Amino acid sequence: MLSRIDHVGIAVRDLDRAIQTYERLLGLRVSGRERLEREGIEVALITIGESRIELITPLNPESKVEKFLQDRGEAVHHVAYATDDVAASLERAAAGGAQLLDAVARPGTHGTRIGFVHPKSLCGVLTEFVEPDGKPGT
Ligand code: CO
Repeated sequence: MLSRIDHVGIAVRDLDRAIQTYERLLGLRVSGRERLEREGIEVALITIGESRIELITPLNPESKVEKFLQDRGEAVHHVAYATDDVAASLERAAAGGAQLLDAVARPGTHGTRIGFVHPKSLCGVLTEFVEPDGKPGT
């Protein structure tokens, strides 16, 4: 049901500096930036093979990513798995005893559907399921 790592989210304090660091030290290229006002974050996307790194920075003090940075500092924030059915993946995790942060799938960026599982259910890692919209290049 889960087919690959869709992306790994990394919480960063300074998005411009993080982009420079990942480009300079790893030779990677940022392919796009996006402000998600509703989530209170800005993300920079680095495509690598079939996966992506998402550098994430908070836009305001109320952002959950701001709280994460205060608690844990810059670190891996979440791991996202590609799935053909977010609802089924959430149901499977819940049936196994996981605490869901999203009881049902909700819209993500670029026409995707997403759902999150609480980190305490998966060895301390906030876990996301992503169902692509089926269009190429998103
Ligand atoms: Co994500």
